[in-house]
Amino acid sequence: MNKTASKECLFQTVNLQKFYPQTQSFALRDVNLTISEGEFVGIRGPSGSGKSTLLYLLSGLLTPSSGEIYFRGKPLENIKNKALYRRKNIGFVFQDFYLYPGFSVLENVLLPCLHKFFIPASLIKKAQALLEYLHIAGKKDLPVETLSAGERQRVCISRALLCEPRCILADEPTGNLDSENSRNILGLLQKINDERKTAVILVTHDDKISSFAHRIVHIVDGTLKAG
Ligand SMILES: Nc1ncnc2c1ncn2[C@@H]1O[C@H](COP(=O)(O)OP(=O)(O)OP(=O)(O)O)[C@@H](O)[C@H]1O
Ligand SMILES: [Mg+2]
Repeated sequence: MNKTASKECLFQTVNLQKFYPQTQSFALRDVNLTISEGEFVGIRGPSGSGKSTLLYLLSGLLTPSSGEIYFRGKPLENIKNKALYRRKNIGFVFQDFYLYPGFSVLENVLLPCLHKFFIPASLIKKAQALLEYLHIAGKKDLPVETLSAGERQRVCISRALLCEPRCILADEPTGNLDSENSRNILGLLQKINDERKTAVILVTHDDKISSFAHRIVHIVDGTLKAG
């Protein structure tokens, strides 16, 4: 075990492995990956190579079969309240949006806070400012189902940013978008990374990612490949 994981590392994985008993297969094998604070990393690889599994492990939604994950120098397994860890540190963006139909754009952005009895005006203001930042404020009172795919993804990114996470984990965020909208979304994530210093770990099949990310990591058959 590497006990010298640096605090400047956002994530460090050491010989990380994930075995799925249901399929009796390793989704990840001996993954040693370091991601710095504020980095924008693209993760590429064929279908079934373990990309989503890696994001779920980093978020604490899955536990490793063996190996370690350090978050800012601290073993993730020692963080007992994983829900709180995610709420404070991680914003998720998915291909399928996971927005709530029947709720407005603004309500969807505020959803991470709906467990609270009372949503302070300052938080509503923050959500509105995020919608402005992502050029979607004009639609804040419309039901989300009336938005285009690119607009929906901008709502998702606003929602992911509400709790000011250290890191956005994005799984195929442009998978349902045309080429122009994909470019827009990647550009917005780059702007967020640049201006807010939010790290972005983005899984994609999209070739355009190399123009936006600082670094591309390739996973093949659950193993990291150089280049
Ligand atoms: N819950 C599960 N139970 C059993 N096997 C699983 C489970 N989730 C994923 N796997 C297997 O683990 C491997 C990696 O899956 P994963 O979803 O991480 O791949 P991926 O790279 O994200 O693929 P894609 O590009 O298609 O989304 C696959 O062989 C998959 O069948
Ligand atoms: Mg996947």
